[in-house]
Amino acid sequence: MVGQSDAGQVGWEKLANLAKPTLKALFADPARLDSWCTTLDLPGGTIRFDWSKTHLDAAAWAVLADIARAMDFENRRAALFDGDAINASEGRAAEHTAQRGVGKETSVDEAAALHARTRALVEAIHDGALGEVKSLIHIGIGGSALGPALAIDALTRDGARVVVHVVSNIDGCALEAAMAQCDPATTLIAVASKTFTTTETMINAASALGWLREGGVGDPYGRVVALTAAPDKAVEWGVDETRVLPFPESVGGRYSLWSSIGFPIALALGWEDFAAFLDGAAAIDRHFLDTPLAENVVVRAAFGDLIYTQARGCQTRAVFAYDERLKLLPSYLQQLEMESNGKRVTADGKPLGRPSAPITWGGVGTDAQHAVFQLLHQGTHVIPVDFLAVIISGDSLDPAHHRILLSNCFAQGAALMAGKAGSDLSRDYPGDRPSATMLCEDLNPATLGALIAFHEHRTFVSAVMLGMNPFDQFGVELGKEIAKQIETGDGPGFDPSTEALLALAGIGD
Ligand code: F6P
Repeated sequence: MVGQSDAGQVGWEKLANLAKPTLKALFADPARLDSWCTTLDLPGGTIRFDWSKTHLDAAAWAVLADIARAMDFENRRAALFDGDAINASEGRAAEHTAQRGVGKETSVDEAAALHARTRALVEAIHDGALGEVKSLIHIGIGGSALGPALAIDALTRDGARVVVHVVSNIDGCALEAAMAQCDPATTLIAVASKTFTTTETMINAASALGWLREGGVGDPYGRVVALTAAPDKAVEWGVDETRVLPFPESVGGRYSLWSSIGFPIALALGWEDFAAFLDGAAAIDRHFLDTPLAENVVVRAAFGDLIYTQARGCQTRAVFAYDERLKLLPSYLQQLEMESNGKRVTADGKPLGRPSAPITWGGVGTDAQHAVFQLLHQGTHVIPVDFLAVIISGDSLDPAHHRILLSNCFAQGAALMAGKAGSDLSRDYPGDRPSATMLCEDLNPATLGALIAFHEHRTFVSAVMLGMNPFDQFGVELGKEIAKQIETGDGPGFDPSTEALLALAGIGD
């Protein structure tokens, strides 16, 4: 991606110097709700994107739209979908949308062929080709784990065709906990790694093989499925080619759950649901690609984010899912947003010179209300908040549960905005604190796909506006290198604090 950071510079200064009306003042406009709230009719049901309780207004929009023009936004967006090599530092495209059928024709065809292969294996397993399969231990980390973990947790509350345990941490406690719930005779192992070299994943995979062997499985490799962009490495490691499900190098790790990395989702839910998941995402792809900026919910969300980071000094943004099924969404978004846009350099290699991605954090409502909301309402930081909620309840208990859950969600947004004068400062709520609300009609594979794709593109828009490449992640390498040096004893020697910690733990003696 060719950065054009200088082109946007003047605009960012303008944005920072604009008048800053309060939310109360903005709501004096009777058209405010209609102007900043859009409901999309999507394959899984509607999603209402209400950005009216943010400080977006016509003046800020005009400046942001100018920056978008200066940053060649429309061509950058086209380049994403056309499969151009927009990940310039790694010399490749970012073709996750092709996995959902939207993108360059040859890439879409390739994705369809690879999906057919995944589907065939999923259906063969469902049909008993590998004997009785009750559970799958899915081993992967980062983008090879967070998406499957989120989708499976969100969508299998009513049961799964195969019970999936996602294991990422190299801490053996994680794998042991999963193995304790499985019988080696009826368990498959998925090894999910784009590179098929990640230490955590390969060590966990080796231990899982050992567990199968000790559990009496004669051919442990025969129980392994590999999900990877490096199929040769998986075969070399010992997985039979028929159980290696490749995906293209042009699909980034944190954008890979639509590819064969989604195998555990398809195995748990069935292929039809996985296809619906892809369709929901594709509907957002088309909205993002085809809708003019002014009505584009993805662009609107990103512009809202940029107001807070670039003009109002906000260093974090919080996401609260008022739905237990979405409780893993904040951690999924942390990787998506912080690994993509947590950078201090533009795509053309210059210092960014301004704030990059905010720190994404969050939790689940109503639990978070009783833990961290004090700071949101009365702390010295202003933290833009996203609320996510679902109209149709996921539980079958007394409807009071869901009614009160939603009431709390909406009450928090109202309270943050309105505030309340108190008899003294400790009882005073300043208000004017921004929030956006995403209200889904239902939560199903298609809705979840749409929500995730919405956030992917929101992240992309911010990157384009700031002139960054959201698709590389060199910042994760240094710590890995040092850990390897410690493991192999080839290190140059470390600082006294690190040396003392290593000595105390008995490492590297
Ligand atoms: O270290 C970060 C990272 O490279 C992520 O970008 C990626 O999702 C994760 O590690 C796992 O990588 P892999 O899928 O190659 O095992």
